[in-house]
Amino acid sequence: MLIAVSALVVTVLVALPLLAEGSEISPMYRVHAFYYLWYTEPSEGGWTHWDHEVLSHWDAKIAGKFPHGMRFEPPDCLHSPYYPLRGPYSSIGRELIRQHLKEMELYGVGVLVASWWGPSWRKGSHDTQLVNTDKRLEQVIREIEETGSPVRVAFHLEPYEGRNKENVYEDLAYLTEKYMGSQALLRVNGRPVYYVYDSYKLPPGDWAQLLLRNDGPWNVRGTPKDGLFLGLWLDKDDGEQHILPAGFDGFYTYFSSDQVSYGSRVENWPLMQMWAVRKNKLFVPSVGPGYNDAKIRPWNKVSQRTRGDGGSYRKYWAAALGVGAQAVSVTSYNEWGEGTQIEPAIPREPRNGCQYLSYKPSSPYLYMEITRNSSRELGQLIASGNKGICKMGVGGDDSNARGTESSEGANSVPDT
Ligand SMILES: *[C@@H]1O[C@H](CO)[C@@H](O)[C@H](O)[C@H]1NC(C)=O
Repeated sequence: MLIAVSALVVTVLVALPLLAEGSEISPMYRVHAFYYLWYTEPSEGGWTHWDHEVLSHWDAKIAGKFPHGMRFEPPDCLHSPYYPLRGPYSSIGRELIRQHLKEMELYGVGVLVASWWGPSWRKGSHDTQLVNTDKRLEQVIREIEETGSPVRVAFHLEPYEGRNKENVYEDLAYLTEKYMGSQALLRVNGRPVYYVYDSYKLPPGDWAQLLLRNDGPWNVRGTPKDGLFLGLWLDKDDGEQHILPAGFDGFYTYFSSDQVSYGSRVENWPLMQMWAVRKNKLFVPSVGPGYNDAKIRPWNKVSQRTRGDGGSYRKYWAAALGVGAQAVSVTSYNEWGEGTQIEPAIPREPRNGCQYLSYKPSSPYLYMEITRNSSRELGQLIASGNKGICKMGVGGDDSNARGTESSEGANSVPDT
């Protein structure tokens, strides 16, 4: 097995220069972290998400075996298995946003991938807790612009109810128009970057109308609405059956529990990377410290993955670097309800019967530190030998990409 894997890695390294001649992109802009903006404090109308209800299983027989429906009661009882260093916070606190931006900058995260649930004016465009993050994202972008933070924003297009190709088209038009002039966006070859969560929920044919070059009314390629689009790879055949026919420029895996999907198992990454290279797609593997949603999905024990004092996270990073990833996504900066956060957590004595895990024996910054070190290592790997291997703005042989040869190149990423 080991031999087979290293043979694959060698093939990958040989094959990658085919993607070469790309311009450089600063190492920090190759590390992207999924960022959630859905938290509030009572002064904004309640403890949204911190007070998340316990979810019931979709199968009534299983649902009956677990308590569900009750809400957590912050600040003592949070929906998270960990307690944040900053306490349960509001995503719209200016000081909080600035702290997050600073922390990302210091620890090698150049890009926050903002969870976005559609424009604020569309009915039904919100998450399960009825939060719409449109205005909040606006604020994060404003803070980046005002503080001159080097952190850049990519979009995580979330599957709000009723998402279809018409809505997605409208979303792209809206975001393009709104942030056209903003320096705060990550741009690769001049195009903003979109991660598409649960992309499988639309048939590939619908994505193709948006993302494969065509003369239809929904096509965004070669228009100002164009972007670098990353679909979600879950199952073994998602490359051929989803990513390719949909016209995505690349893919990510999101889950950092090897229980959840084929794509989340690092043993499969060499094959996925080989596929990506062959098809000229960008593979942005997702790495994460563990997974624990026991408080909100008590029946989901099978998906839980312990952190092992950073061991799991290091393993994911090693796998991402091992397959020669040109960019890495981190699940997550602050998804506290699923216990995937790298944001600092502190030990906390049980109060009102609510208990918490912590990063002990390590410091609250363990996961930020591993991120910083790994981000550095990724930069070094790319600088030595892997230099310019990936032009990030892929799409070559299916000629989807606009301006891959343009002088804008990936140089435009820092854009400051
Ligand atoms: C990060 O790298 C530094 C320097 O190599 C090392 O001393 C430190 O222990 C590393 N931190 C972690 C959390 O691995």
